[in-house]
Amino acid sequence: MDIRVLRPSDIPHVQQTNITNLPENYFCKYYLYHALSWPQLSYVAVDVSRPKKTPYDAPKIVGYVLAKMEEDPADGVQHGHITSLSVMRTHRRLGLAEKLMRQSQRAMFETYGAVYVSLHVRVSNIAALALYRDTLGFKVGDTEAKYYADGEDAFSMRMDLDYLR
Ligand code: ACO
Repeated sequence: MDIRVLRPSDIPHVQQTNITNLPENYFCKYYLYHALSWPQLSYVAVDVSRPKKTPYDAPKIVGYVLAKMEEDPADGVQHGHITSLSVMRTHRRLGLAEKLMRQSQRAMFETYGAVYVSLHVRVSNIAALALYRDTLGFKVGDTEAKYYADGEDAFSMRMDLDYLR
C-alpha cells in the first residue's frame, strides 16, 4: 500500500471512493479546490499490489483524506480542517486511516503552521470516533444539532498539533 499526495488526476477515483463510503458527497470542483489550494494536505492510499494491465490503467484508490486550511478562522487561530476521510471496506483495519490522518496533520503543521486540526463526525459513527479520539487523540467539543442533511447531530472535534513541535 502506498500513501501519497492527492493528484488532480486521482479526483474521479477519490470521488467514487467517497460516494461508496459516505453520504456526504461533493462536486469535482470542490476536490480540485482542495488539491490546488492546499496541495500538501490531501492524501490517497493506493493498492499497488494490483498489477496494471496497461500503462493507462487507473490507480486503485482504496482510501483518501481530503483536508484544507480554514480560510477565515472565527477564533483567529491558524488551523487545518478534515473535510472527508474514508477507506474502502476491503481495506479497513489495516491502519490506513490513521496513516492518512497523520500525514495530513504533519503537513498542516509544517507547511502552514497550523496550531490545531478540526473536524465534524456523526455522533453515531463509532469507528471514526474511536479512530479520532482513542487512536489519534482528538478531543470532543460541542455537539452541533442537526449538522447533517438527514438531521443527525455532529460532534465537533479538535486536536492540538503542538506534539509535532
Ligand atoms: N470499530 C472500532 N474502532 C475502530 C474501527 C471500528 N470499526 N475502525 C477503526 N477503529 C479505530 C481502532 O482503534 C483502530 O485501531 P486498531 O485497528 O489497532 O484497533 C484505529 O481506529 C485505526 O484504524 P484504521 O485501520 O487506521 O482505520 P480504517 O483504515 O479502517 O478507517 C474509517 C477507519 C475511516 C473510519 C473507516 O471505517 C471508514 O472509511 N468508514 C466509513 C467512512 C467514515 O465514517 N469516515 C469518517 C467520517 S468523518 C469525516 O470524514 C471527517
